[in-house]
Amino acid sequence: MSYIWLDCDPGHDDATAILLALYCTNIRLLGISTTHGNTTVENTTDNAARCLHAFAAPEHIKVHAGAAAPLLRPARSDAEIHGPGGLGGVEGLPPADSDSVRARIDNRRPAIEAIAAAIGQTWNAGAGAKVTVVATGPLTNTALFVSVYPHLLDAIERIVFMGGGIGVGNRTAVAEYNILCDPEAAQIVLNTPVPKTMIPLNVTHKAIVTSSVHAKLINSTIYEAPSGAPSSQLRHTLSTLISFFKEAYESTFGFMDGPPLHDALTIAYVSRPELFTGIRYRVDVELTGAHTSGQTVADVWGYLKVDDTWGRTGKNCEVATDLDIAAFFELFLDCVARCDEV
Ligand code: BDR
Ligand code: CA
Repeated sequence: MSYIWLDCDPGHDDATAILLALYCTNIRLLGISTTHGNTTVENTTDNAARCLHAFAAPEHIKVHAGAAAPLLRPARSDAEIHGPGGLGGVEGLPPADSDSVRARIDNRRPAIEAIAAAIGQTWNAGAGAKVTVVATGPLTNTALFVSVYPHLLDAIERIVFMGGGIGVGNRTAVAEYNILCDPEAAQIVLNTPVPKTMIPLNVTHKAIVTSSVHAKLINSTIYEAPSGAPSSQLRHTLSTLISFFKEAYESTFGFMDGPPLHDALTIAYVSRPELFTGIRYRVDVELTGAHTSGQTVADVWGYLKVDDTWGRTGKNCEVATDLDIAAFFELFLDCVARCDEV
């Protein structure tokens, strides 16, 4: 069983990460924190809570709002990909001002305090059980958490984040959006002496929701609805999510086959690491380049001769290089089926 904390900015693919975090049978989700990123932190907080409700999450799992802006830079948002509110085109989610959504948001504890409490409790109560911190947005909250609570680093199993790319970007020629939003935070996390896994664009761009995966998502194999209609409210919601995301990717990047489910891969990695291959490198973030700010720079040839530690002097990050795509989508559809049964 893996205990996880999810820090996210929903976001279409973040929403699918939330679903997997709830329904992978070997994962226990302790809580969710939210960050600026795809849209404002107010929107991402509401969206995370709306997803928890739509996905029938247990009531005790709460959403805690985190950073409204990067450590040093102004906040961005990405309406082109996710719509102005972050979950553009997604039908069937409860409104943000409904009681059921408000009840899922814990305003008493800001993100990093909530992360510290959950990790501290799991460590003490679970006879030394560690927690995996999963980040699917800019790394501001994670950087603040590891800086403010260094005594809890021993209780972190691993930090798994979607971000970066080796030689490839999506919001500049070489910078991926999550890292580009807060490069300083990403460098702080990369310097933190705990095991880390980066799931970069090179891998996430292989996890494309093709029309055949979309068709399986629309209809459960148990009950096939007539005339191609989604066979449940949940499947309708997820189908509209994929359709909007597909169109955004098509118009922005020319992806024709379907959208990549970037963020869901982080949870798949925690649940089924054997589906991935990876190589451990020294990875740093370009903080000042005229054309390359926000780039993740991996020492692929071992040129730097660094040590074997996970912190600022070593091979600090496992970088995913490939995945079993068919098995990943099987896991995704299994989680949808389990959620459908609740
Ligand atoms: C990342 O940026 C956002 O658009 C997605 O939610 C994902 O986390 C991909 O670059
Ligand atoms: Ca995201």
